Amino acid sequence: MFALEGVSKVYGGLVALAPLSLTIAPGERVALMGPSGSGKTTLLNLLAAVIRPDTGRLSLAGQPGEALRPGRDLARLVGIMPQSFDLVPSLAVAHNVLAGRLGEWGFFRSLLSLVVPQELERARGALARVGIPEKLHERTSHLSGGEQQRVALARLLVQRPRAILADEPVAALDPARAEDLVAMLSRITQEEGQTLVASLHSVPLALRYFSRIIALRRGRLVFDLPADAVTEEEMARLYALEDGGPS
Ligand SMILES: Nc1ncnc2c1ncn2[C@@H]1O[C@H](COP(=O)(O)OP(=O)(O)OP(=O)(O)O)[C@@H](O)[C@H]1O
Ligand SMILES: [Mg+2]
Repeated sequence: MFALEGVSKVYGGLVALAPLSLTIAPGERVALMGPSGSGKTTLLNLLAAVIRPDTGRLSLAGQPGEALRPGRDLARLVGIMPQSFDLVPSLAVAHNVLAGRLGEWGFFRSLLSLVVPQELERARGALARVGIPEKLHERTSHLSGGEQQRVALARLLVQRPRAILADEPVAALDPARAEDLVAMLSRITQEEGQTLVASLHSVPLALRYFSRIIALRRGRLVFDLPADAVTEEEMARLYALEDGGPS
């Protein structure tokens, strides 16, 4: 699904991601872990072809990243659940869910989307799968953080990309709701046969719901292991503060 060869990203002298080579096979469930600033969001944005690497080569489903333009082709390959899920708060939930179809539609179809009952049914179906069918006509800003995460997931259900990239999908949720959402993300992507790459900070959730852990620290790969091969000591070392306190 993804192949990276020496991919790196530098921001004004700061190495956000040192040259990295790895592949992620279709259907894999990968947890991306590492302390704040370690490069997780940068890596997810590279995988989503939202940003371009400074060096190296990246391909998505065998196609070179630089050949993929935003729009239909890219939307069919990858969908991203950003760290701050970019829903439009003033719109009804249904509009935000159907935004997942924008890659497929032209401009006029987009304007008409909510007039088409079939599309509303599609939105209702996606909301039912994430457990909040009653919120279809609710204003998005009236939803709790956890419910808004579900809307972001419903939008991806409507988009149906081959891979889902989720950037700290549970950062703002309490532990019970966090587990609920990760379990749902894991179950739905398996049902759809999708590849899942998610960044998160919860070690127990990463070990329970993912098959592979990729750990970054200061933009460098620390380990890349099957979840059942990761030890508590390795996790503790990954998140340990530098000598002399927080960096
Ligand atoms: N657009 C940008 N411009 C300048 N620096 C950036 C930019 N994006 C990221 N960085 C820097 O690159 C480094 C890696 O950032 P990144 O957002 O990938 O980390 P992260 O692992 O996602 O952190 P967090 O857990 O806090 O979300 C950080 O030092 C960050 O400040
Ligand atoms: Mg981040």
